[in-house]
Amino acid sequence: MDEFQKLLKQKAEIVDAALDFYLPREAFPKRLHQALRYSVMAGGKRIRPILVMESAKLFGLSFEKVIPTACGIEMIHTYSLIHDDLPVMDNDDLRRGKPTCHKVFGEAMALLAGDALLTDAFSIIARNSAISGISLQAVLDVIDRISKAAGSLGMVGGQAVDIDASGKDIDEQTLLYIDRHKTGCLISASLWSGARLAEASESDLKTIDDYGERIGLLFQIIDDILDINGDEKLIGKRVGSDAKNNKNTFPSLFGYDESLQMVEKLCKEAKDLISSFDNNWFFIQLIEFLKERRY
Ligand code: IPE
Ligand code: IPE
Ligand code: MG
Ligand code: MG
Ligand code: MG
Repeated sequence: MDEFQKLLKQKAEIVDAALDFYLPREAFPKRLHQALRYSVMAGGKRIRPILVMESAKLFGLSFEKVIPTACGIEMIHTYSLIHDDLPVMDNDDLRRGKPTCHKVFGEAMALLAGDALLTDAFSIIARNSAISGISLQAVLDVIDRISKAAGSLGMVGGQAVDIDASGKDIDEQTLLYIDRHKTGCLISASLWSGARLAEASESDLKTIDDYGERIGLLFQIIDDILDINGDEKLIGKRVGSDAKNNKNTFPSLFGYDESLQMVEKLCKEAKDLISSFDNNWFFIQLIEFLKERRY
């Protein structure tokens, strides 16, 4: 394992411990809390919370100070996965190497576990205001940004077009809309939130947002490629889910080679954007990691 992957692992362990602390354990109703804990604690790369923490650090704020926001974003992400896997959506039975939430707890409880995670996430994010050195205005701005990134003009909008477009011929603009919204919005909001809590300047916020836009799209293109040629044991989900559902993806529309060219272009743009910052080692390494990832 290289130095960067070690850092990811170490930071993911910090996120796991914080999530374990924030999520109710033996609370009533028991099965609801078991269901949401089951999905959150099943693992996952914890990329979005790590982005919140690293972005704060890039702008001079200790990563410990943004852990509530980082955990809230991971809860929103996990809710989106639980709902994405439901029979009315992608109908998948494997997630994070385990049977999906609805396979274990039933569809109604999986739906509710997702609802609870999305709602409770904002209460956890609000707790960031109790941390010394964090301004109330920054927390409000972060709540505003994350709710927009997750809502109808963001992730949910992307999921809606993804579902509507299944089995249909769509153009490149529509495909870009799907990927930028269903996946890109929460990734760029993660970076932006860490930076905002660190009181980064308007122009730095813009740069980190633009970088996030590139890596968000790149993230989904690689996800689509792994859905074709990935190893089920590594990705922890079924290979071939997109083909089964007649999904429009970069590789299905443009083929493997053209998708890789797009990935290269996004990597270059992301690198150019982040090069203007000092101490950008993590963000340079991240680009390569996301491009080469097998999980
Ligand atoms: C999968 O996200 C869903 C997409 C938005 C592509 P991740 O690949 O980050 O999944 P986990 O969190 O590691 O399980
Ligand atoms: C899902 O995209 C994005 C969200 C969950 C918002 P996918 O449907 O491709 O994600 P996976 O492959 O199931 O993780
Ligand atoms: Mg989906
Ligand atoms: Mg899916
Ligand atoms: Mg996928």
